[in-house]
Amino acid sequence: MPTNTAAWITAKNARLEAASAPYTPPADDQIVVRNHAVAVNPLDWIIQSAGNLAYRWLNYPTVLGSDVAGEVVEVGEAVTRFRVGDRVLGHAVGTDKDSNSPAEGAFQQYTVLLERMTCPIPDTLSFEDAAVVPLATSTAACGLFQTDHLGLRHPAAGAEPTGQTVLVWGGSTSVGSNAIQLAVAAGYEVITTASPRNFDHVTSLGAGQVFDYHSPTVVADIIAALKGRTLAGAIAIGTTSAAACVSIVGSATGTRFVAMASPPVSFDSLADEGRRRFELPRVILRLITANVALQVKSRLRRVGTKNIFGTTLKANEVSTAIYRDFLPRALAEGRYIAAPKPTVVGHGVHDFQHAMDIQRKGVSAAKVVVTLP
Ligand SMILES: NC(=O)c1ccc[n+]([C@@H]2O[C@H](COP(=O)([O-])OP(=O)(O)OC[C@H]3O[C@@H](n4cnc5c(N)ncnc54)[C@H](OP(=O)(O)O)[C@@H]3O)[C@@H](O)[C@H]2O)c1
Repeated sequence: MPTNTAAWITAKNARLEAASAPYTPPADDQIVVRNHAVAVNPLDWIIQSAGNLAYRWLNYPTVLGSDVAGEVVEVGEAVTRFRVGDRVLGHAVGTDKDSNSPAEGAFQQYTVLLERMTCPIPDTLSFEDAAVVPLATSTAACGLFQTDHLGLRHPAAGAEPTGQTVLVWGGSTSVGSNAIQLAVAAGYEVITTASPRNFDHVTSLGAGQVFDYHSPTVVADIIAALKGRTLAGAIAIGTTSAAACVSIVGSATGTRFVAMASPPVSFDSLADEGRRRFELPRVILRLITANVALQVKSRLRRVGTKNIFGTTLKANEVSTAIYRDFLPRALAEGRYIAAPKPTVVGHGVHDFQHAMDIQRKGVSAAKVVVTLP
């Protein structure tokens, strides 16, 4: 049995510590992957900083992390799609309430993955590039395709144009970079937002029009751009995104719905250990106030809203639509780009804390990645 090492979080708010971990064999519908590259997401440092608010169900010690790329070392009895030695990327779901399992976290050498949340990596794609795909793609897919969110047509090779437009607020984020590509691959036109330095990035992924979200007239400008078009709804990414999207969707013709990826306030101030005790009540108050204001605004404008939880696709048809039916060929044929580009900041399990600290300080159209030798 292989020996395993993990970056453990031993208690709420604790810094990560590299130490040995058990090797866990797969259940029938799972595979085990030897990780070669693992990406870091805001969720990882949010759980670490805001453990009293977010993911309160977690049993500690545990292993964080969602994005893995590596080689299959063992497959469960019911798995027919993968063999030992296959190169795969996958969305690790160890921090979900129904998993709550360190074996299914990404920040270690060996991760147990659900077969339906895993996809082959084409020879043309490095492990570092592949690791940027899973969580951001899953989150975008939940918002765009689940029937309790926007319920859009699924992506497919040569999809006929629908003649409808999707608003992706926050197109240069990881989630946004994947939302643009998924919506375009499903036959929708995309209007998005980004800083001007990332206009080329989002248009290269298929966005038809892009607006600077710092502009004081951005909401009015997007409302004007939507005149004469039919909106299929919006996916709101970024702390200030939901209120802006509700204003736009409320003034447009078409589906009056906003799928929301981000909480309306930042958890950043909770990362400072010295200030956390004082900041926690403030963050809770801001969260309650912002949520109430958003609910009032969306009711007044008759716009439906729903938060996205980026792993819910594992329990419905969207997981297989993406990880089995769409991504493998789209990645192999270059129709789907691993975006944004990886920035490799470490080369071992002991580097995950450093990588989380870098992600928290902020990135722009980039994904923080750690390779595992
Ligand atoms: N609900 C879920 O399950 C789930 C899953 C994953 C992520 N998320 C959330 O989704 C958000 C994005 O995550 P990510 O990993 O994709 O982020 P990320 O790549 O770390 O985001 C960095 C980008 O954020 C953009 N940005 C900063 N402020 C913004 C704003 N107010 N509006 C729009 N864009 C803004 C910046 O764009 P420019 O550089 O162009 O200015 C930058 O490129 C986070 O809030 C994260 O917590 C939620």
